[in-house]
Amino acid sequence: MSEEIKTTQTPEKKKRIFSAIQPSGTITLGNYIGALRNWVKLQDDYECIFAVADLHAITVRQDPKIFKKNILEAYALFLACGIDTSKSMFFIQSHVHTHAELAWILNCYTQFGELSRMTQFKDKSSKHADNVNAGLFTYPSLMAADILLYQADLVPIGADQKQHLELARNIADRFNGIYGKTFTVPDGYIPKVGARIRSLQDPTKKMSKSDENVNSWVAILDKPETIMKKFKRAVTDSESRVCVGEGKDGINNLIGIMSAVTGKTAESITAEFEGKGYGDFKTAVGEAVVEEVRPIQERFEQYINDKAYLEEQYRKGAEFALNISRRTLDKAMKKIGYLPK
Ligand code: TYM
Repeated sequence: MSEEIKTTQTPEKKKRIFSAIQPSGTITLGNYIGALRNWVKLQDDYECIFAVADLHAITVRQDPKIFKKNILEAYALFLACGIDTSKSMFFIQSHVHTHAELAWILNCYTQFGELSRMTQFKDKSSKHADNVNAGLFTYPSLMAADILLYQADLVPIGADQKQHLELARNIADRFNGIYGKTFTVPDGYIPKVGARIRSLQDPTKKMSKSDENVNSWVAILDKPETIMKKFKRAVTDSESRVCVGEGKDGINNLIGIMSAVTGKTAESITAEFEGKGYGDFKTAVGEAVVEEVRPIQERFEQYINDKAYLEEQYRKGAEFALNISRRTLDKAMKKIGYLPK
């Protein structure tokens, strides 16, 4: 699994990238630093295919009106972050029926034991004990279908998705082993900085939108004053030196965030804040994040108010995606022995 994003490659044939994010209503700084921001950087050097993973989102109960709004807002927000539909294919997962179809097929090549080992399933099923549905359990097969349908070489993700990606690789290997080469076995692309942004309230845990404590996460669309307040309340430790160290999870996390948004190294951040307290540092991190998201928020307002443009873009994306993914689905079905349509 590759740990770094390289932005140059040979000109002959661009490698293909696939990635997706769920439209949860709250796209966090973790999603942005761990994934979205890297998608934007990769667009010139790779053939990129991105999706709003709305089929994945119903593994937890959704209110129809809010869900619909969240899907469109996620699409607009990713555009605002810099996804450029003249360079990348960008669509909404539920608009491309091949995803659900290949997911069913891959379910039949995925073992119960493999799915039972997924830590995210264990976490989510304990959080939503009243709704441990089959979709929550088989979710990694749908994610494998998303990736394998496009014969993706690389999948840029945060560290929390590594286990799912490894399962996708195993499923591809297994299928190829039975029927001959059908799917490209994808590699993960996990950034060196920011692969696991942590909760601001409990830095031993990842920053997650499903955390009930709203002060634990920062949303890209949070107001500047809210962002500042959340950073000022961030949990740190009893020392006072701004440096990376053991037992300093809170400060390590803030240094990671600062480093990701400013491009400064941890050493230069430590030098800059020598002799200053945590209060100054937390304010500076908050300000850096506010500056990073300000232009995104402005562009988001423009996109979300132009429904016709959004519709045109996601329709175009779905059409392209269907054309590519249909070929892989047909190939897989033929190998299994299904009659051609
Ligand atoms: P999701 O929607 O939970 O998260 C989207 C992306 O954000 C990354 N991420 C983080 N990175 C760093 N720090 C964090 N605290 C943090 N939280 C989230 C995730 O690693 C992910 O890259 N199943 C996927 C969506 C998906 C997908 C796919 C991804 C569906 N199909 C195919 C890749 C390929 C998910 O729920 O991610």
